[in-house]
Amino acid sequence: MFGAMQDTAARMPMIAGNWKMNKTTVEAVTLSQQISFESDKAWEAVEVVICPPFTDLKSVFNVLTFDHSSIKLGAQDVYWEPDGAYTGAISVSMLKELTCEYCIVGHSERREYFGETDETVNKKVKALLAQGLHPIMCCGEDLDVRDAGDTLAFIGEQVRLGWKGVGEEDIAKSVIAYEPIWAIGTGRAATPEQAQEACAHIRGVVADFAGADAASKMRILYGGSMNTGNAELFLPQPDVDGGLIGGASLDAKAFSTLVEMALKAK
Ligand code: PGA
Repeated sequence: MFGAMQDTAARMPMIAGNWKMNKTTVEAVTLSQQISFESDKAWEAVEVVICPPFTDLKSVFNVLTFDHSSIKLGAQDVYWEPDGAYTGAISVSMLKELTCEYCIVGHSERREYFGETDETVNKKVKALLAQGLHPIMCCGEDLDVRDAGDTLAFIGEQVRLGWKGVGEEDIAKSVIAYEPIWAIGTGRAATPEQAQEACAHIRGVVADFAGADAASKMRILYGGSMNTGNAELFLPQPDVDGGLIGGASLDAKAFSTLVEMALKAK
């Protein structure tokens, strides 16, 4: 296990909303307008990202552009090939055209239901970075792994494989989300100590292959049933740089409160 690296000053906190397969276009416009309405100048001290489904990206982009919002746009997945006969797939350029700056990669739901592997995660990470987008790479263990006491080794391996062959500068600009599978959408969040332990370990693993400088700059988020009732325990943890929020990101008030909490925590 690695100790916490406390160079938090260099890292802007991040609150990212993962809408998953929720919100039709009309609903997405309403929700993004509500979130934008709640935001103010102070939010610029937190990197706020919303990741709607592909079909909502354009309309959410329109809302954020119209409002001159500092909120950034992210996607939930991408395919690594630049173009071609890949029915149903979306390329990095397509995301870039809609000003997506971030893209979630390797979410446990994609690993479980869509056959995502550490190898495909790595291809996506590289394809995104090649065009200047920032990956938010997810890692996390299931309950069997945790109960066996293998959590840190398991997530360490996911991180090593996911970032294989990626340069230090690109790593410094990227994000990892630690999301224990048993905590996602269950209402049973990890304890703040578990989140800190895992995030500190991830930072240590990154330092090991990319150097202490890149590791101290990379943002590491906690995700898994983070909400307005428990975020104040997670956000001040030294290696937790924010949250990847599922359920609570679908409610403008809750999501905005989480951003405010992130502002206060650091
Ligand atoms: P949750 O989802 O906040 O609903 O647990 C988090 C995630 O899967 O990113």
